[in-house]
Order: sequence, then structure tokens, then C-alpha cells
Amino acid sequence: MATQAQTQRPAPGFKAFRVIEKKQESAVISSFILAPADGTSSLPGRPGQFLIVRLSLDGDVTVLRNYSLSGDVNDRSRVRISVKREPAPFDRPELPPGQGSNYLHDRVQVGDLLEIAGPTGSFTLDEESPRPVVLFSGGVGLTPMLSMLHQLSSRSARPVYFIHACENAAVHAFRDEVLTLAGRRPGISVHFCYRNPDAEDHANDAYHSRGLISRETLQWLLPLDDYDVYLCGPRPFMQANWRLLRNLGIASERIHYEFFGPATLLDEDEVVPTATAPTPASPASREATGTTEGALTVHFLPSGTRVAWDQSCHSLLELAEQAGLTPSFNCRAGLCNTCQVSLREGSVEYFETPLDAPANDDILLCCTRPTTPVTVDLRK
Ligand SMILES: Cc1cc2nc3c(=O)[nH]c(=O)nc-3n(C[C@H](O)[C@H](O)[C@H](O)COP(=O)(O)OP(=O)(O)OC[C@H]3O[C@@H](n4cnc5c(N)ncnc54)[C@H](O)[C@@H]3O)c2cc1C
Ligand code: FES
Repeated sequence: MATQAQTQRPAPGFKAFRVIEKKQESAVISSFILAPADGTSSLPGRPGQFLIVRLSLDGDVTVLRNYSLSGDVNDRSRVRISVKREPAPFDRPELPPGQGSNYLHDRVQVGDLLEIAGPTGSFTLDEESPRPVVLFSGGVGLTPMLSMLHQLSSRSARPVYFIHACENAAVHAFRDEVLTLAGRRPGISVHFCYRNPDAEDHANDAYHSRGLISRETLQWLLPLDDYDVYLCGPRPFMQANWRLLRNLGIASERIHYEFFGPATLLDEDEVVPTATAPTPASPASREATGTTEGALTVHFLPSGTRVAWDQSCHSLLELAEQAGLTPSFNCRAGLCNTCQVSLREGSVEYFETPLDAPANDDILLCCTRPTTPVTVDLRK
């Protein structure tokens, strides 16, 4: 099947990659191995980073979706992404299933071209750190952990604890690859936790623990130490395990995490959304900046929050966060359009050129600053 990239130039900022292999990894996850169509090397990526895939769906709809590098980032001849087929939400079966992932699963075949940007993202393995590493994932959240495991198994001697939770063997992707990587050198231990193993999983000794990851399991797996933890998975998994890790005494700055959807606070009392996000201003300082005379005022809807533009903020996204608001974001670099909102009044400037600037009166919060007083509507 011809994808749009075969008949048109890739959009600015994107590059054409050919699908050279497509592989089913589990009942719900398929990998796409991609090579630059012009025969050059792929861009250097760091373990944990993701690519942006620009998909031209039927009916002239274009969507941008992020997919983590799931293979060895040192192999510059190819990159691998691994995509979970996203169904309709289980409590809303009448809704359409995920557009991008189902398109990739059903329509994109070996030989097709895809428009790719990146790699990008700050959820990356700290290779300078000497600390032992915990790679802790749920479901398709294992993809960035895989690229980290590739790196750690071949280029590091640090102890590694690879902990993966999923439903059962039917949806468990990369089991053999993880065990092979762990077997490359001493010091890498693997734990698989199945929530709903069946009789065959039991007979095959396919899992190490069942149910949900518990405090006892973590205490048993992780000897007292100072770890770098990388956490990625569905929202309930992240919230539960963040708390478990914190209760075990792991400092929040040691827990690096990534959400595969709009970011949400893990624990409203303790966490700001990313390592780069600023510390929220105190109510007192918020009030003070909001009443500074002569400053550019930023009015956020629907909350009605009014604050003065703060020159120390990198972007309108940072200003909103500083004001205690929680707009959605992912890349924070103008690549994914997750932070797209409506500009109701005033004007802004882009300090970074977005990959796919939104049309009409929409703007990207993460790469704009106000040039006049503005009213921004954070509702999608
Ligand atoms: C940094 C990052 C890395 C990522 N890495 C990976 C990865 O390695 N592998 C991977 O599989 N994914 C990854 N993702 C997630 C991926 O980018 C997509 O979000 C995911 O594939 C779903 O996209 P989709 O187009 O299939 O679903 P969408 O079309 O975005 O739909 C998402 C869900 O919303 C439901 N929906 C549809 N209409 C409505 C409606 N009206 N109201 C409410 N719900 C509705 C759909 O049924 C579906 O369940 C990553 C995301 C990020 C941010
Ligand atoms: S957060 Fe990705 S474009 Fe703004």
C-alpha cells in the first residue's frame, strides 16, 4: 500500500523512512523497523527517546504520534518503534479506536514510507551516573526501557533490575529479547509480574509474581541502595508505583518517568510534571506577579487565572504551570502539538519553529511567548 510519503515530499522537519520489517511482538504490539529512505544513517538518539511519526490518514487527516525507540540506539542503519494497537476505552466501546496506532497496525506494511522526526525527549538514561538502575514498566511502557536495557547490557557494568508488569503471556512483548539482553553479562536481573496469568502461563513458568506489584515484591527485589529508577506505563500503574517507590524511601529526584499520554501529576502534593518543569510559585508570589503594573497580562481560560508575563519563564506553558495550572504537554519542544490551545485575544511569538504549526487561532504553549496581553483558552 502506498503511504502519502511515497508520493509527496515529507513535511518540513520530517524525513522519509522505509519500513524494512514489521513484526508482531504480542497480541497487541507490533514493531516497525525503519531505515532512512535516502540511504543515510538515522539521526543519533539516546536510550529512552522517541520519534514523531506523521501519519496522513484517510480523508486528509494528519496526526502526529510519538513512539519510543525500542531497539539499540547505536545501530544507525535502522531504528525500531513498537506500537500497541489502542482499542476504544473499555467503558466507552462506542468510541472509535486509536487512529494512529490502528492505522500503523492495519495499513502500514513493509516497503511503505513513513514521515519521521526526532529522536527527541528528555526521558533518557543517565549514562554518567554510577548508581544501580531500576527499569520499571507496565504494558507498552516497556519500549523506552528496552532501548535502555540494550545500552546497559552492552556498555555498562551497573547493576540493573528490569521489572515489567503486564496482563499475561498473550500480551507480553519482548520476553525473549529481555532475557537474552539480561544474559549478556552478570548483574542484570529480570522480574515479570502477570496480573491475570492463565493455566498455560503457570505451566510454562512464564512469570515471577502475579497480581499487582506490591511493596513486598519491591522490597524483596531491590536491596537497600541508592537507585536511578525509570518508570513508564499506564496512568494507574504509574500512580501506584510512584507511591510505592516513594514509600520505600526512593527520593523523587531519583524517579524519572514518562507518560505515553497527556501528562498528569502522579501525586499532586509532591510532583511537578517533568524534570524541566519549574517549582510552582507560592500563592503570595503568584498574586504579586499578577498585579505588577505595566506587565503583559496573561489570562487563562476557563479558570480565569490572570498572571503577569514573567520574563524568567521559558514559555507560556511554564507560566501556566507556575500559576498552578496543568495544561497537557508531551515533548515541550514544538514537536507533538499536545499543548495546542486557542488564543482568544492578543498575539504571541514562536521562539522555536514548531514542526507542524497549528492553523487558525491555535497556538502551541510550549514554544510561544506573549507579545501583547493575551487570553488563552486551555480547553481543547
Ligand atoms: C513520549 C511518548 C512516547 C510514546 N511511546 C509509545 C510507544 O513506544 N509505543 C506505543 O504504542 N505508544 C507510545 N506512545 C503513545 C502514542 O504516541 C499514542 O498516543 C498511542 O499510540 C495512541 O494513539 P492513537 O492515535 O492510536 O490513539 P488516539 O486516536 O489518540 O486515541 C486514544 C484513545 O482515545 C480514544 N478516543 C477516541 N475518540 C475519543 C473521544 N471522543 N473521547 C475520548 N476518547 C476517545 C480512542 O479509542 C483511544 O483509546 C508514546 C507517547 C508519548 C507521549
Ligand atoms: S508539548 Fe509537544 S508541541 Fe508543545
